[in-house]
Amino acid sequence: MTESLFSPLTLRGTELPNRVMVSPMCQYSSEDGMPSDWHLVHLGSRAVGGAGVVMTEATAVSPEGRITPGDLGIWSDEHADALSDIAAFVRGQGSVPAIQLAHAGRKASKTVPWEDSQPIPTDDGGWETVAPGSEAYPYESKETAATREMTVEDIETVIDDFRAAAERALDAGFEIAEVHAAHGYLLHEFLSPVTNRRDDDYGGSFENRTRLVREVTAAVREVWPDDKPVFVRISATDWLPDRESWDVEQSARLAPLLADAGADLIDVSAGGIHPDQQVPEPGPGYQVPYAERVKENTDIAVGAVGGITEPEQADEIIRNDRADLAILAREHLRNPYFSLEAAHELDEDVEWPVQYRRGTFE
Ligand SMILES: Cc1cc2nc3c(=O)[nH]c(=O)nc-3n(C[C@H](O)[C@H](O)[C@H](O)COP(=O)(O)O)c2cc1C
Repeated sequence: MTESLFSPLTLRGTELPNRVMVSPMCQYSSEDGMPSDWHLVHLGSRAVGGAGVVMTEATAVSPEGRITPGDLGIWSDEHADALSDIAAFVRGQGSVPAIQLAHAGRKASKTVPWEDSQPIPTDDGGWETVAPGSEAYPYESKETAATREMTVEDIETVIDDFRAAAERALDAGFEIAEVHAAHGYLLHEFLSPVTNRRDDDYGGSFENRTRLVREVTAAVREVWPDDKPVFVRISATDWLPDRESWDVEQSARLAPLLADAGADLIDVSAGGIHPDQQVPEPGPGYQVPYAERVKENTDIAVGAVGGITEPEQADEIIRNDRADLAILAREHLRNPYFSLEAAHELDEDVEWPVQYRRGTFE
């Protein structure tokens, strides 16, 4: 049977009402990691807009795992309690509430984008960053704060932090947990030979570089119920073809290992490890071929993200089985009601929220 953008997707015991996901997008609007009214309105509107899955921004599993002081977090029960209202509202609209669990590694301790994403020194409100090695992220414009090479004890703590964060996310009412292993943050830093030059069990060979993301995925799976899916977001490639780096073939090889560790969907993004990356023209669906390659090598579901903006385009990706989920970020900033409009354009019968029925397209 041919699936379409508005076919439900069942992952384990969880039914996604359609194949549109609101991609995780940092809002940099938290204090001490707490959600604010902004988060409820931002995520809530996109649930009202009919997306099948509404995912939170990167939500830090520890204070030092935040990219900026404005990042959302889930390192205490207080955070989970505050997030539960958001998860309940999203669920109440018929969308599946999802949370992205994250640690920023050496890209932590930066100012927010509207303050130029510059490293914040430790004596000015910043914090020590940690990574597989001690080489700091090569920011262009400013001296960078030192990065500390993680010990094996630090690694074990990070695994525990992800596990505990997943337990809290479950208490908060989220139904999908996504492990953020993309965009040059901690777990991607372990995957990529550009940033991982360790010579212990967590570096060197493919098996060793992939160990941490497999262990984190397994730890999340351990506490995540059998009927609920775990996603893992990866960067399919470092876009650094001129040096030893992470690439699409390694991503394809990783996918079945993540499935073995308990993942139910690979969310295929790209880039972020190093400023020298050669990003291709970010045209329509520019990263979809990476998702297709990963999908060829695994039986679990795959999500495509990057340059998806049009209903027909998203529908085509699903109909041709190029991916199982269409993940849209910036289009959802422009249009929270993307899914309701897409249903109209694609001639699908989708229920509007009763309060908005008078706005239904005639
Ligand atoms: C404002 C903004 C914030 C983002 N924050 C995150 C994030 O928290 N986690 C993540 O994995 N990707 C993040 N991204 C990347 C998007 O999820 C997405 O992968 C990227 O924008 C490409 O998709 P698009 O072409 O539909 O925008 C962010 C993107 C934007 C525009």
